[in-house]
Amino acid sequence: MENLEYWVKKVTEEFYEIVYADEWLKHVFTIDQKIITSQQIDFMVDALGGERRYGGKSPADAHPHIFVTEEMWNRRESLLNDAMTKVGAPADLRSKWLKIDLAFKKHIVMKDESECRKRFFSDEIIVVYNPAKKVA
Ligand code: HEM
Repeated sequence: MENLEYWVKKVTEEFYEIVYADEWLKHVFTIDQKIITSQQIDFMVDALGGERRYGGKSPADAHPHIFVTEEMWNRRESLLNDAMTKVGAPADLRSKWLKIDLAFKKHIVMKDESECRKRFFSDEIIVVYNPAKKVA
């Protein structure tokens, strides 16, 4: 794809701007915004067939400590779509990107908090419910 690096950078930077301002997801992303942005740019450029330079964990192993529900997954996807629209990402990039994300869904989404696992001893389990939902 032409300008792959350019578009992945544009989308990812905009995406995390939105995520880190989101009333729900901002509490899930405890990692530094600059760090996750650069990790994701490397991961996506690589996954989309560009330069092979991502040396981090597979997305399937990166989130066992986060209680990602179906609802949270959908929120993330919707914010990603907003970012794509905002920067005017090309249609073929959008569809390829969403396909890659979907391939990892079954490894990331959980049904119950008890499925969470620390990645290392001092890791923190992250369970954050949607603040917009009032619990009776
Ligand atoms: C609702 C869904 C998701 C949430 C809430 C989420 C959240 C996060 C968070 C908070 C981190 C940082 C973890 C840390 O502290 O090191 C992370 C890392 C990462 N995520 Fe996600 N993520 C989601 C879906 C995805 C998807 C769909 C992909 C890619 C297809 C992905 C790829 C990655 C990668 C590559 C890393 C860095 C791994 C590493 O090197 O440690 N994530 N994610």
